[in-house]
Amino acid sequence: MNLWGEVFAAGYDRMMAGAEKAVLRGRRETLVSRVTGHVLEVGGGTGANLPFYGAGVEELVITEPEEPMARRLERKLAGYSLPARVVRAPAEELPLEDASFDFVISTLVLCTVDDPARALAEIYRVLKPGGRLVFLEHVRSDGPRLARWQDRLHGVQVRVGHGCHCNRRTLENIERAGFSIAELEHDRMRNMPPIVRPLIAGLARASA
Ligand SMILES: C[S@@+](CC[C@H](N)C(=O)[O-])C[C@H]1O[C@@H](n2cnc3c(N)ncnc32)[C@H](O)[C@@H]1O
Repeated sequence: MNLWGEVFAAGYDRMMAGAEKAVLRGRRETLVSRVTGHVLEVGGGTGANLPFYGAGVEELVITEPEEPMARRLERKLAGYSLPARVVRAPAEELPLEDASFDFVISTLVLCTVDDPARALAEIYRVLKPGGRLVFLEHVRSDGPRLARWQDRLHGVQVRVGHGCHCNRRTLENIERAGFSIAELEHDRMRNMPPIVRPLIAGLARASA
């Protein structure tokens, strides 16, 4: 058993509560409430996006590779009447068909996947042509001073944040995977340590 994985999952909602209240909940609502059709959420965690899915969702697949998170997700999901199922799989190896989703949602996950390029290639593969990736991710700072601190404290953050990399160039990674950025906003994850504050929110489109 991965003890830190259990502890991290058990404390996750409490650890994020301040940032959820200050910024994340509003961002989740704006982004998630607009998805429709066949939807995949990668790395669903404890299910923080569940309250925001609307009636236009026909199918919702939520992947989560960590057992302690997946258990919490399934418990929370039982309280919603969503056409949803949880699949235990990493974003780098999605056991899902090509071109089968209208939307993929990734919130605070591309910081944590082992291989962002592979995860994004998989997300691209399962999206229908013209399908959209909805993202809410904390990223490397554009400011050199904070970026230097992110590099310095990166190793500590990976351990404390259970695999979370605070210095990833996630926007560039999304573009490199072949997506075009359709909407983008920069924000700050207030009530969190400065190294994980720079935040991007938006929509990226796979080519039609
Ligand atoms: C910081 S949490 C975010 C959880 C949730 N998406 C949210 O918005 O609150 C990161 C999540 O990514 C999951 N994760 C870790 N490695 C992953 C991988 N290779 N593929 C997909 N998800 C992964 C973790 O188990 C965890 O649930």
